[in-house]
Amino acid sequence: MTPSQFVSTCTADAIDQAAAQLRAGSLVAFPTETVYGLGADATNATAVARIYEVKGRPQDHPLIVHIASMNEIDKWCSDIPAYAIFLARDFWPGPMTLILKRSPLAQDFITGGQDTVGLRVPNHTLALALLNSFAKIGGAGIAAPSANRFGHVSPTTAQAVEEEIGTYLQSQDQIMDGGASEVGVESTIIDCTHVAPRILRPGAITAQMIEESTGLTLVEKSEDEIRVSGSLENHYSPLAKVILDSPAKSGEGFIALADIQTPEGAIRLATPRDVDEYARLLYSALRSGDSQGISVIAVIAPLGDGLAVAIRDRLLRASRGR
Ligand code: TXA
Ligand code: MG
Repeated sequence: MTPSQFVSTCTADAIDQAAAQLRAGSLVAFPTETVYGLGADATNATAVARIYEVKGRPQDHPLIVHIASMNEIDKWCSDIPAYAIFLARDFWPGPMTLILKRSPLAQDFITGGQDTVGLRVPNHTLALALLNSFAKIGGAGIAAPSANRFGHVSPTTAQAVEEEIGTYLQSQDQIMDGGASEVGVESTIIDCTHVAPRILRPGAITAQMIEESTGLTLVEKSEDEIRVSGSLENHYSPLAKVILDSPAKSGEGFIALADIQTPEGAIRLATPRDVDEYARLLYSALRSGDSQGISVIAVIAPLGDGLAVAIRDRLLRASRGR
């Protein structure tokens, strides 16, 4: 790959400079432990509008606001239930987004016109350094969806961000390179607007962890709501057709846990030894299938609880195609 005008390594100076650029209305893609985000000042309507342009994302899809610590929570929301505080204390910084009733600071261009806002404190040294530097110069929060074009696979490296959106960026925008994301799938999204928490998108913070932290039983989603949250983000799809839980034919890509053998003639794209590694490798494996021009990728999804639930969720969506 040719060196990019956008990708920057991250000295302290570079972080302060990126924060200043954000404050001035530019976009900064940055690493988090889940996936890379495409950031803009969450109080700047013009900057946030550029996120939608660069992603090609429909305007009514709300954005997650990233904050430096849970102390910032009541800037952005009101009526915070006690269980949400337990969750924030136990799992922030971390791969968890809380949906809470918004404060006036969370304007329609962030919430897609809803009366709720999504908040997250990411657990990545660089993301936290950027958020702290941004807060020091008066920034309230960084709005950041995953840094992919709408409907595509989320990027877990700076190179993947560049491939996804590089051509849509402007000269003052930048991509901070913080290495490969540790978790590899997007944060657990928890609706905290009811008497008990509800999972809208599964992730590394699991149902069991949430129930243990809050002492509450999760509210199940109704059929209607499942349809709605399906539109949270349509797909997580590569260009290749993803076929779930059937063996690969010759010439097709293949992803499965290490103890499952590669079918004859298939092209192995990842050999994760456990579910954590599966999540970490999944998106780059799908991308690598695309870059090799493979048209079908057969994936054997991991079984069980925990992160396996999130992996199956993303694979199911990917298998529904673009
Ligand atoms: O791990 C993550 O959450 C990554 C990193 C960058 O933080 N971000 C991420 O953002 O996955 P995005 O925009 O690609 O996915 C966030 C999802 C969207 O489907 C959006 O509809 C939903 O969260 N969301 C955001 N705010 C919401 C709200 N107020 N109510 C319901 N859903 C919300
Ligand atoms: Mg996304």
